[in-house]
Amino acid sequence: MENIFAKNLSQAMKAKGYKQIDLLNLAEKKGIKLGKSHISQYVSGKTIPREPILNFLAEVLEVDLNWLKGKDEAEKKRGNGMKEFKKSMKLDNVLYDVRGPVVEEAARMEAAGTHVLKLNIGNPAPFGFSAPDEVIHDMRSQLIDCEGYSHSKGLFSARKAIMQYMQNKKVPGVTIDDIYTGNGVSELINLSMLALLDSGDEVLVPSPDYPLWTACVTLAGGKAVHYICDEQAEWNPDIEDMKKKINDRTKAIVIINPNNPTGALYPKEILKEIVELARQHQLIIFADEIYDRLIFNDEEHVSIASLAPDVFCVTFSGLSKSHMVAGYRVGWMVLSGNKRIAADYIEGLNMLSNMRLCSNVPAQSIVQTSLGGYQSVKNYIVPGGRVYEQCEYIYKALNDIPGISAVKPKAGFYIFPKLDVKKFNITDDEKFTFDLLREKKILLISGKGFNWSQPDHFRIVYLPRIEVLEEAVEKMRDFFSYYKQS
Ligand SMILES: Cc1ncc(COP(=O)(O)O)c(C=O)c1O
Repeated sequence: MENIFAKNLSQAMKAKGYKQIDLLNLAEKKGIKLGKSHISQYVSGKTIPREPILNFLAEVLEVDLNWLKGKDEAEKKRGNGMKEFKKSMKLDNVLYDVRGPVVEEAARMEAAGTHVLKLNIGNPAPFGFSAPDEVIHDMRSQLIDCEGYSHSKGLFSARKAIMQYMQNKKVPGVTIDDIYTGNGVSELINLSMLALLDSGDEVLVPSPDYPLWTACVTLAGGKAVHYICDEQAEWNPDIEDMKKKINDRTKAIVIINPNNPTGALYPKEILKEIVELARQHQLIIFADEIYDRLIFNDEEHVSIASLAPDVFCVTFSGLSKSHMVAGYRVGWMVLSGNKRIAADYIEGLNMLSNMRLCSNVPAQSIVQTSLGGYQSVKNYIVPGGRVYEQCEYIYKALNDIPGISAVKPKAGFYIFPKLDVKKFNITDDEKFTFDLLREKKILLISGKGFNWSQPDHFRIVYLPRIEVLEEAVEKMRDFFSYYKQS
């Protein structure tokens, strides 16, 4: 138990950025008798302190007392001789920090009664966005017809609407058979990687990325090779970097356009260059276009598949963001281009699609309504609309904070600001997010969570109303006026 306590103590000190001397100073301030030699014995695992010291440590380190004592783990280990169940090794290198350790810490703080402002996840509903009335009405009225499984790829009406949507986006040659509905795009990202990858196969994935892509490539046994998106070039993909990273094992390129976390919208010229690379090296293009209906200033979204009639493409989209129904879990993927060369892969997709029987049928039942007629999301993304105005506000307010700079998003509801690491002495961006959370009760995710290799970025979800964003920015301005990582 001593060793578990020592391990937990070190972990909690690291998370808070405390050295032994900091604990001694805090103890002195609180009038608690704690000597230098005591604390070093605790850290080295030689002894466990008495209850009052344990209480003090748990309080200043903001951790659960029983966890700190190592009681839970020790009990598990004794476990009456029972074996422990460990997670599979397939998960060893899988990372998904959007719901990771900083988020768990925020949940602990909330359980203890602290209000935390969450700017970590692109979930519109908690910020007062709701589904269009017509969508709710239509789901209600179709509910009794949705009791059974549907075709494994989805309802005819849903797939027909998606097919027409792709026609409007000028993607050629898409038939009903090329469309698969899923429980959100998430399920289909996983399915499409599982069906494709063998051990050691490589997939080019953007950095920064929406981390599910890297996670699913890894889980499927492949290797995610990250190409750089260049902040100096409005976060567009760096084509030269992509080229350098293609080799015999490369099977596919993933693009996220419009992008999460950067808010970039890729111009046609860049897309054409990516298509050319895929053409030359015979790669599949996976295009995640879930934000394609959330673009500011009437800029046009070009579906990369529309530029690649001869390249096999898989395009993903869904209603989570454009219709503010992330909880309904409805997304789709569409095959286009040279399907002949992918016949065997498509068989694999069909097998996996059949094995999960079908996606959520009530959710599929609103696809036709959602994609047809007036798109009410437009009200949010024009001047005066909530998402547009919140974007304008956060962009200006962040750039006003000394040491922070950000490229203006063109779409979506994320911004990926840069930290002046020299000014703040930041070497560990996750620690920065822990510090911000504990000191200012603001939850956001660091660049590391998006497979960004330098400790110099973080993502903000600007879905909250401006009044709430203002409060967050004021707290951040104060935090950055004194923050220096030790
Ligand atoms: C780029 C991107 N792709 C896919 C998803 C997952 O969406 P869904 O709710 O359809 O699973 C998200 C969610 O944030 C996203 O940002």
